[in-house]
Amino acid sequence: MTTTAEPPTTAEPPPAAVACTGLDHAFGDTKAVDGLDLTVHAGEVFGLLGPNGAGKTTAIRCVTTLLPVPPGRVRVFGHDAGDERMAVRRLLGYVPQQLSADAHLTGRENVSLFARVFDVPRRERAERVSQALAAVDLADAADRLAGTYSGGMVRRLELAQALVSAPRLLILDEPTIGLDPIARTSVWEHITAVREATGMTVLVTTHYMDEADRYCDRVALMHRGRVRALGTPAALRRGLGKRRGAAATDPPPTLEDVFRDVAGSGLDDSSGGFSDVRSTRRTAQRVG
Ligand SMILES: Nc1ncnc2c1ncn2[C@@H]1O[C@H](COP(=O)(O)OP(=O)(O)OP(=O)(O)O)[C@@H](O)[C@H]1O
Ligand SMILES: [Mg+2]
Repeated sequence: MTTTAEPPTTAEPPPAAVACTGLDHAFGDTKAVDGLDLTVHAGEVFGLLGPNGAGKTTAIRCVTTLLPVPPGRVRVFGHDAGDERMAVRRLLGYVPQQLSADAHLTGRENVSLFARVFDVPRRERAERVSQALAAVDLADAADRLAGTYSGGMVRRLELAQALVSAPRLLILDEPTIGLDPIARTSVWEHITAVREATGMTVLVTTHYMDEADRYCDRVALMHRGRVRALGTPAALRRGLGKRRGAAATDPPPTLEDVFRDVAGSGLDDSSGGFSDVRSTRRTAQRVG
C-alpha cells in the first residue's frame, strides 16, 4: 500500500509586523535594551510606553536597522533586521524623535528627498509626493519653507515624509510631543485615516497616556530595557483595578495609573512625571 503525504491542513500564520526576541543593546555600560521580547501584529496600532530612558527609542532604532542587531533577534514581516537590512528598510516609514525635516527646504522638497531615498519610482514621484502632502493637509503650504511651519505642521510634514514610500509599517517616535491638543488630535486623525485606507501597521511611542488609551489597540509598558506589562489599554486598566481590590465607588484606574504602577520608583521625579521636558525643549527649538 502506498501512502501519500498529507497536505497541510492549516495555512502558515502571517508573519508578525515586528518580532523582537531577546533583543539587547548597550551603550558602553548602559544596557538600554535588555532582553526585550515584543510582538507587534500586522495591522494593529501598537504603543510602546515607558519613562524617560526606558529604552523605547533604542528598541525602535534596532527595528529600523539604524542600530545594528545580530541575526535572529528582530524580524519585520518575516525579514531579519540583522542580515536583510535593505528588505526591512523598504517596508518601513519612520518619524524619529529628533527633527528629520530640513528648515531650508520647502515641504514639497523635504518629501521629495524622502521619495528619492526610499526608491519611489521616478515616474511616480511627483504624484506620490503631492498625495503624501495632501494626506496630511499640507497641500496649500507645500511650497513654503519648512522653517516657516508651526510645530504641528512640522510633525505632519514628517508624517508625509514617512508615508511617501507607502510603508507597511509606520514607526513614530513621540509624534505629538510638545503639540497643542488640537494639533495632537490632527496628527492622530491623519495617521488613522491613512491606516484605514492602507491597512498599514503602526508602532508608536508616546508619553501621553490619553493618546495611547484612545488610539492604540495594544500597548507595552517598557521599563529598564524590557517589557513589564502588555495588553489592550482596557485590560491593563482592569488588571490594575483588580490587583488593588478597589471599591466600586473608587474612580477606575487610568492608563497613567498603570504607568505609575509599572514604572514605580524608576520614575525620575525631576522629569515632572510624564511631561518630557527634554523632548518638549527639543520641539520648542525645532519650532522656534
Ligand atoms: N547614543 C547614545 N549613547 C549613549 N547612551 C545612550 C544613547 N542613546 C540612548 N542612550 C541611553 O540609553 C538609555 C535608553 O535611552 P532611550 O533614548 O532608548 O530611552 P527612551 O525610552 O526613548 O527615553 P525618552 O522617553 O526620554 O525618549 C538611556 O539610559 C540613555 O541615556
Ligand atoms: Mg525616546
